Amino acid sequence: LVASMEQVDQTYIMIKPDGVQRGLVGEIISRFEKKGFLLKGLKLFECTKELAEEHYKDLREKPFFPKLIDYITSGPVVCMAWEGVGVVASARKLIGATNPLQAEPGTIRGDLAIQTGRNVVHGSDSPENGLREIELWFKEGELCQWTQVQVPWLRE
Ligand code: TYD
Repeated sequence: LVASMEQVDQTYIMIKPDGVQRGLVGEIISRFEKKGFLLKGLKLFECTKELAEEHYKDLREKPFFPKLIDYITSGPVVCMAWEGVGVVASARKLIGATNPLQAEPGTIRGDLAIQTGRNVVHGSDSPENGLREIELWFKEGELCQWTQVQVPWLRE
């Protein structure tokens, strides 16, 4: 159990087109950076309808799916891969509830958004989906293999 808690995971975080258009890129990246996770990949990207549909394939039957795809493809997004122990669940906490009006103050959506359909950021919901989504959005060679410099006073 202790070993599994130390599992290093990866999550796919995406600043959606409204976040980019509203000039919130720096603010949103900053929250993950300050938390201390390791940035492994980062790019500004205009995605195709096909990619957006594949990303959200589990929601295909939902009534809001066509609008969701139109929104995600309406402008550039910022794609990120972040790594760390517990990064998937922690990133979801930093992001806050799907409906920004229900998201706690202090979370990204709680502080920066008001509509479910314009909730500024995506975060993977499981380590499996983290890997799936990073593979989907990044090509080989786009991720960096660096690790943070190990100086004793930065982290335990
Ligand atoms: P979901 O995976 O349920 O939420 P989350 O992004 O918090 O993991 O839904 C994916 C996205 O679909 C969500 O961020 C915004 C959009 N969406 C709607 O537009 N309307 C809705 O009623 C729901 C549930 C989601």
